[in-house]
Amino acid sequence: DWTMSAYREEAVTAIREQVGDKQVICALSGGVDSSVAAALIHEAVGDQLTCVFVDHGLLRKNEAEEVVGMFCDHMNLHVIHADETELFLGKLEGQSDPETKRKIIGGLFIDVFQKYADQIDGAEFLAQGTLYPDVIESVSFSGGPSVTIKSHHNVGGLPEKMGLKLVEPLRELFKDEVRALGAELGLPPSFIGRHPFPGPGLAIRCPGEITREKLDILREADAVYIDQIRKHGLYDEIWQAFCAILPVRTVGVMGDGRTYDFACALRAVTSVDGMTADYYPFSHEFLGETATRIINEVPGINRVTYDITSKPPGTIEWE
Ligand code: XMP
Repeated sequence: DWTMSAYREEAVTAIREQVGDKQVICALSGGVDSSVAAALIHEAVGDQLTCVFVDHGLLRKNEAEEVVGMFCDHMNLHVIHADETELFLGKLEGQSDPETKRKIIGGLFIDVFQKYADQIDGAEFLAQGTLYPDVIESVSFSGGPSVTIKSHHNVGGLPEKMGLKLVEPLRELFKDEVRALGAELGLPPSFIGRHPFPGPGLAIRCPGEITREKLDILREADAVYIDQIRKHGLYDEIWQAFCAILPVRTVGVMGDGRTYDFACALRAVTSVDGMTADYYPFSHEFLGETATRIINEVPGINRVTYDITSKPPGTIEWE
C-alpha cells in the first residue's frame, strides 16, 4: 500500500525529529493501537524505547503472558511487565459508578507510568496509541455542557506534572488504517487481526462493583466464547466480541439442585471504526451451543444472554 508506506516514512521521520536522542516510554495496553505505536516508534528510535505493560488485573485469560511474549520474542522490544493488580483492584473496591471506575483506572495508569518513567534515565516522552476517533470523541464532548459520553482514560488527560511529552503517531488514523500500518511494519497477522480491547479492560465489562470472583468468572466465560467464535471461523467477520458479567444472580437448575449464579451477556458487533456498530447475526445454533458450553464449563454462570443492541443507541461496551 503506497499511502501507508509513505505514512510510515513520514511518521518515522517525525518521531525522530520530535524525540531526538531522548528516551521514550511506551504505554503498552495489549491492544492493536499501542502495539502498532510501539512498533513504529521502535523502528524510528530503536533502543531509546522502553515499553511498560501495565497489568491492572483487568486483562483477559493468559493475555499478559501472550502480549509480553509476543513483544519480547517476535519484535525484540524492551518490555517491563508491571504487575499492579493489587494496586488497581484495591482502589476499585466498592466502586460501582462507570465514570468513577474509569477515572480511578486512568489516574492509577498515570501514577504507574510516572513510577516507571522515573526509573528510566532521561525518559522525556510518553508514547500513546491514540486514534483519530478517540481524538474527536473526546474533543467534541469535553467542555460541552454535561454531554461527556465516556472519558477514555488514554486520551488527553495526562497532567503536565507528569513531566513527559506525548508521542502519538496514530492520531490521524482510523482503526483499519492502524491495522494496515501494523502489517506494513511486519506485525504478525494474528496480532493485527485482534479485536480492539479497551484500556480499562474487564472493568467496563463487569458493570457495577468489581470483585475478583466476578473477574475470574468473566475471564473463563470470555475465553469459551472467543474459542467458539474462532472454531466457527467467525473471528475475522466480527469487529469486537466479548462477554460481560451482569451484576445479578439468577436461579437455575442443575441435576437435582437449584443454582443461584451470575448471568452473562455475549456481545459481538460489526463496525468500521467503533463509532457506529451493528450486532452480529449469529445463528441460533451457534448461540445455543455457546450458552451450553459456558454454563457447563464455567462455574459461577448459569444463564447466558445475547445483546442485540446496535450503536447508537447502545455503546459497544456495557459501561
Ligand atoms: P463504546 O463502548 O464507546 O466503545 O461504543 C467504542 C470503542 O472504544 C472502546 N472503548 C474504550 N477504549 N478506553 C479505551 O481505550 C475506554 O475507556 C474505552 N471505552 C470504550 C471499546 O472497546 C470500543 O472498541
